[in-house]
Amino acid sequence: MAAAALLRRSPAARALLSPALSSRLVASKSHSSSPAPPPPSSGAKTKTFSIYRWDPDSPSTKPHLKDYKVDLSDCGPMVLDVLLKIKNEQDPSLTFRRSCREGICGSCAMNIDGDNGLACLTKISSASSASTISPLPHMFVIKDLVVDMTNFYNQYKSVEPWLKRKDAPPQPGKEIPQSKADRAKLDGMYECILCACCSTSCPSYWWNPEEYLGPAALLHANRWIQDSRDQFTKERLDSINDEFKLYRCHTIKNCTHACPKGLNPAKHIDTIKKLQLEA
Ligand code: SF4
Ligand code: SF4
Ligand code: FES
Repeated sequence: MAAAALLRRSPAARALLSPALSSRLVASKSHSSSPAPPPPSSGAKTKTFSIYRWDPDSPSTKPHLKDYKVDLSDCGPMVLDVLLKIKNEQDPSLTFRRSCREGICGSCAMNIDGDNGLACLTKISSASSASTISPLPHMFVIKDLVVDMTNFYNQYKSVEPWLKRKDAPPQPGKEIPQSKADRAKLDGMYECILCACCSTSCPSYWWNPEEYLGPAALLHANRWIQDSRDQFTKERLDSINDEFKLYRCHTIKNCTHACPKGLNPAKHIDTIKKLQLEA
């Protein structure tokens, strides 16, 4: 049985694996040969970064952590700067996602020294010990730090994250008005960049990734439940009033701790649960 299939079917097996490595089994330190890094300049301040590597085109090589030494005196301050420097100067095969470099696109989400975060917004640790960089926990790895987001995006899509109306559309050139107070109700939700840091830090999501919608999708469900212009509030509540989709949340609040945008998914899940009681 493929490892991925085994892990999908066996929560217990997943529980035995460290989060970052659950998608592709065992990690071990690598001593594989690669181009030697350039010698550090005088005044160099080197730090070691242990980075998760796995290449689907080299199936005989198991997932492993590979060490890179980086001269921080010649590097930007963020973890993404380190990754780009390694890729440009030491190992062009290192694979990761990034785009905006401003904490807006959400693509550089990964696990850095045990915490989920955006590489472009996470400062390099000042600790002298090595930093460990691995993929988002409990996600299937496509290559190195790149994870498969298909299930996450499908869950987002399942809450129908768009305006739904029963009334006829407004006349061309007319808008559906919204008061400032009603607009303010969307603050703390519309800012979500779908990075998945929250969902992949949630133990309930680790154990039930297909059934439980997870904090990101539920935050977006509430974003549309709260929108004064939307006319499908009851249907939206009914569609997630489910033992697994919603009630797998046990208010552990890892999600809120993990969000790099300072959002509070746990609070919005709580709001949905209260609305379910009132419905
Ligand atoms: S509060 Fe709910 S969604 Fe957030 S980490 Fe806990 S169980 Fe997961
Ligand atoms: S709520 Fe925060 S952590 Fe979760 S997907 Fe949105 S921005 Fe990322
Ligand atoms: S590169 Fe866009 S959020 Fe980090």
